[in-house]
Amino acid sequence: MSIKKSLYGNLNGKDVNAFVIENNCGTKVQLIEKGATLDKLIIKDKNGNFIDIIVGHDSLDGHVNRGDYQGVIVGQYANRIKDGKFSIDGTEYNVTCNEKGITCLHGGGEYSSAVWCGEEISENAVLFTYHSPDGTEGFPGNVDVKVTYTLTDNNDLELEYRAVSDKKTVINLTNHAYFNLNGFDSGDVLSHTVKINADRFTAIDEVSIPTGELPEVKGTPFDFTEEKTIGRDINADSLQLKNGNGYDHNFCISGFDGTLKTAAVAKADKSGITMEVKTDLPGVQLYTGNFLDGSVKGKNGVPMTQRCAFCLETQVYPDTPNHPEWPGCIYDAGEEYISHTVFSFSL
Ligand code: BGC
Repeated sequence: MSIKKSLYGNLNGKDVNAFVIENNCGTKVQLIEKGATLDKLIIKDKNGNFIDIIVGHDSLDGHVNRGDYQGVIVGQYANRIKDGKFSIDGTEYNVTCNEKGITCLHGGGEYSSAVWCGEEISENAVLFTYHSPDGTEGFPGNVDVKVTYTLTDNNDLELEYRAVSDKKTVINLTNHAYFNLNGFDSGDVLSHTVKINADRFTAIDEVSIPTGELPEVKGTPFDFTEEKTIGRDINADSLQLKNGNGYDHNFCISGFDGTLKTAAVAKADKSGITMEVKTDLPGVQLYTGNFLDGSVKGKNGVPMTQRCAFCLETQVYPDTPNHPEWPGCIYDAGEEYISHTVFSFSL
């Protein structure tokens, strides 16, 4: 186990550091302070080759100017808030509508574009901290956020999220890594198989806002209760797939009770790499890179084309601030938000 820290770049006069955690299997995870980003995950495939399974950028300029949330920590409220409005105890808050001018997406981009402060806290863990001043992007509270990435010798990458606000507020934090388990430069992910531990999903309207319905997946293209390829039903005739331009939906994790549960398992055919995602949160967003169109070049100049990657973003359901009937996202002043997500890799 070791951690190496180096200078990655400079943003507006501020140094941005990179940390590489390496375990005893030779797996390497590169994290960068901009966005507390999971930038690289280099791991051995079934042929004994080490491959990078994170689709993203290889420069700070790419992350800052051409990014689509690649690998970043997203907050203060990951995913969407309808009309950028919600109320807490009768006070209405208006947050940044950065999507089509009508929706708040990923908290307006605050946490993901910030330069966090990284620190090695053990031989295999890096802690990132960020202070979000009250009112940033319209969200209430001075919020102190801590995200710890830990890489174990079993090839588990554990993320622990903690946040405390000085005012009652909404919190929903996730990591937005784009995975291609065959390697970042290996084409589309349609042949990956995915299994999701969810009997229901969050139906969305034409601007990707939850309608409030949680339909059963059974008999629909959203049934991932048995392992199937991402590509099998992605082009099925379905209003929900049309609304999301593919899979871009929250799945309601079955048996949610706040303890760590398997949310999803993804497997790649060519590399033989399996990734299991566990979380103590109620939802996971499967996003199949629907809006990547090849116009942005990522690592090694490889264009990021539609479906060249998938994301499994653990979260509370989208737009929960406007759905008090769903598992909650409101935290009192001084009450700590804590969540855990583990990405476990095996062959
Ligand atoms: C959203 C997508 C969006 C992507 C990048 C995902 O979490 O659901 O609609 O395009 O993030 O912003």
